[in-house]
Amino acid sequence: MGVEGELRERMEAIAARFPQRLSALIPILYLVQQQHGYVTKAGMELAAEILGTTPAYVDSVASFYTMLYRRPVGKYVLQVCRTLPCALMGADEVIAYVQEKLGIEPGETTPDQLFTLETVECLAACHVAPLMMVNEGYKVHLDRAKLDAIINECSRGTSPHSDDIY
Ligand code: FES
Repeated sequence: MGVEGELRERMEAIAARFPQRLSALIPILYLVQQQHGYVTKAGMELAAEILGTTPAYVDSVASFYTMLYRRPVGKYVLQVCRTLPCALMGADEVIAYVQEKLGIEPGETTPDQLFTLETVECLAACHVAPLMMVNEGYKVHLDRAKLDAIINECSRGTSPHSDDIY
């Protein structure tokens, strides 16, 4: 079975777990992202076909969630929260420092494909601001020293552990 055949089979298996097949859309888009590194156009078209909806609807859902990447991203995706509570605690300085260190703007990826920088809305951990997500883990109470350590760790190829947010 080819790659697309396997993907189709796994999507079908996920969809079958839901009473309403369309409810499987997010896990199915995650599956596409796991397989390709981002949510591809072909993956969205296949998801639409399997779930009985339109590619335009799938596209609208995929565009809404910042954890779904719509284009190729770096090995480490840094999503810095910029909503008011984090802004009051220094999110702008965090973003500026990461930009300076990596030489990229929000929405860009470093030429070595190691880092992508994004700014996002509230990550639901305002009590430990300012913070960001590094892939699926949280890094909280950010300052320059902590950002240096995180970026160094990633540059060595190690995924930083997630901070406790509770
Ligand atoms: Fe940044 Fe809520 S405002 S986590």
